[in-house]
Amino acid sequence: MPSRAFSFYLCLHVAFVTSQLLPPFPRILGGAPKCRPTAPATLGPYYIAGAPPSKETICKGANENHQRLIVTGRILDATDCRTPLASIIEVWHADMNGAYSHFQYNDSYDCRATIETRSDGQYFLKTKFPGRYRINEKVVNSYRPAHVHFKITPLNPKYGVLITQLYFENDMFLYPHDSCDATVCTSNDTALIVSLTNFRDVKTFEGKWDVYIKPGGNGFIDSGKGGH
Ligand SMILES: *[C@@H]1O[C@H](CO)[C@@H](O)[C@H](O)[C@H]1NC(C)=O
Ligand SMILES: *[C@@H]1O[C@H](CO)[C@@H](O)[C@H](O)[C@H]1NC(C)=O
Ligand SMILES: [Fe+2]
Repeated sequence: MPSRAFSFYLCLHVAFVTSQLLPPFPRILGGAPKCRPTAPATLGPYYIAGAPPSKETICKGANENHQRLIVTGRILDATDCRTPLASIIEVWHADMNGAYSHFQYNDSYDCRATIETRSDGQYFLKTKFPGRYRINEKVVNSYRPAHVHFKITPLNPKYGVLITQLYFENDMFLYPHDSCDATVCTSNDTALIVSLTNFRDVKTFEGKWDVYIKPGGNGFIDSGKGGH
């Protein structure tokens, strides 16, 4: 019967030999692709269909003296994280005062556009930086974080339509301070929050956001006319 000390040595030895036989980081090469379907969010009350194709910018005055936003990225299949999904993207957001065209001011398609991706799924959005707004005018600080609404329709009907919202890092009204509940507005999801840099000029904030959609779609959040 081996001594206790010998057994201990044997264990160490086996552990050492085994660790030598295993590749150091077996999961880094291959393995399941790392992405998850982009979470849906509520459509909210301010969507209107038929926004014109995006031109250079989607808000009037986007080249004037206030903050601008540029977001680029790709629409991709969520099962392999790489198959491009050429899509039609409708975007809409509040102007710098937190007002939506067609609702709080009379310019139906200001800060709204329909954007076609390239065949490789790449989109380009250039606009004014969206303003924040309160969801209840009577409640001080009932703000939502700045956001852009997206309705993404892949040309291949095998993938569903995705309605979601994009948020920006370090916004003080992100979850848990978003006055729209996380069950419908999802600002608790870090995959919907982009970080921004301004390397072009001090007022132009740029971010990159890829969207993943699975066959059959990522689901819907139906909050009726509520939401925001
Ligand atoms: C939009 O225009 C109509 C007609 O001129 C006016 O009655 C209405 O108050 C305007 N609405 C807003 C939000 O400016
Ligand atoms: C956000 O909150 C909702 C509602 O509680 C929850 O269903 C969802 O899983 C959360 N998302 C993340 C990414 O934590
Ligand atoms: Fe909104």
